[in-house]
Amino acid sequence: MSVTLMNGKFIASIIKEDIKIEVEELKRKGINPCLAVILVGDNKASEKYVSLKEKTCKELGIKSLIFNFSNETGEEDIVNLIEELNRNDSINGILIQLPLPKHINQHTILQKIDPFKDVDGFTPYCLGRLLMDNPLFIPCTPKGIIRMLNIYEIEIERKSAVVIGRSIIVGKPLSLLLLRKNATVTLCHSKTNRLEDITKKADILCVAIGKPNFITAEMVKEGAVVIDIGVNITDDGKVVGDVEFEKVKEKVSYITPVPGGVGPMTIAMLMENTLYATKIQKGLI
Ligand code: GUN
Repeated sequence: MSVTLMNGKFIASIIKEDIKIEVEELKRKGINPCLAVILVGDNKASEKYVSLKEKTCKELGIKSLIFNFSNETGEEDIVNLIEELNRNDSINGILIQLPLPKHINQHTILQKIDPFKDVDGFTPYCLGRLLMDNPLFIPCTPKGIIRMLNIYEIEIERKSAVVIGRSIIVGKPLSLLLLRKNATVTLCHSKTNRLEDITKKADILCVAIGKPNFITAEMVKEGAVVIDIGVNITDDGKVVGDVEFEKVKEKVSYITPVPGGVGPMTIAMLMENTLYATKIQKGLI
């Protein structure tokens, strides 16, 4: 059986083209979509992600405002900014880049965001609505993965879907989305016993643990669909996923490469959520 590499980069480029056209139409009506991004501290990976988000906004004609706080900033300063951005009608989306420095309580910060500007879908309100099968904003990485599965016409209903990683950014919302599509979902994590026994039974295996080459060919079922959400930098500066790509791809039906798979879809979904936020706030939806 030949493997299909799922080309997230290409799909994302098409989605972004459509968004760009919609943004132009909004601008003709005097509506200027704007995303505010808050970055706290000097995490190099976060800095890179934020600059990529800024660059993509620019390409699509979406205004972006980047707010940089130093590592020493207290919770109060961040909360004050969020409340100001919530009140500002010219700001449509608010995103807090994660992780936050250890001395800052992520819950305290996230719950301050106006849910109707929560383009990451990380507020308790948005995550609660997702849990209740009535989503408002869906977190970008899981949303991008489901979109990619749909575009490749990969059946989800009745399949065994295994997700490794239980973060609110990926693992938990992705499990809920797969469940909404009628998969039978198993959510695994660092304390899961006999992980290999579980992964071997997966029709759809989604991996978000942040360990290069963690998933080997022996752990994967023949013909499975493998979604690699890992982004790891090797000692020689290469970006690799969590899956031993070269060997696993010989055994599966579909696999996402890293880079060029899930990553570009995440950014495209952020742009889509920002456009959606703008349309809701302007009464267009
Ligand atoms: N850190 C890693 N992934 C993400 C993401 O999708 N959104 C935010 N805000 N922070 C992240």
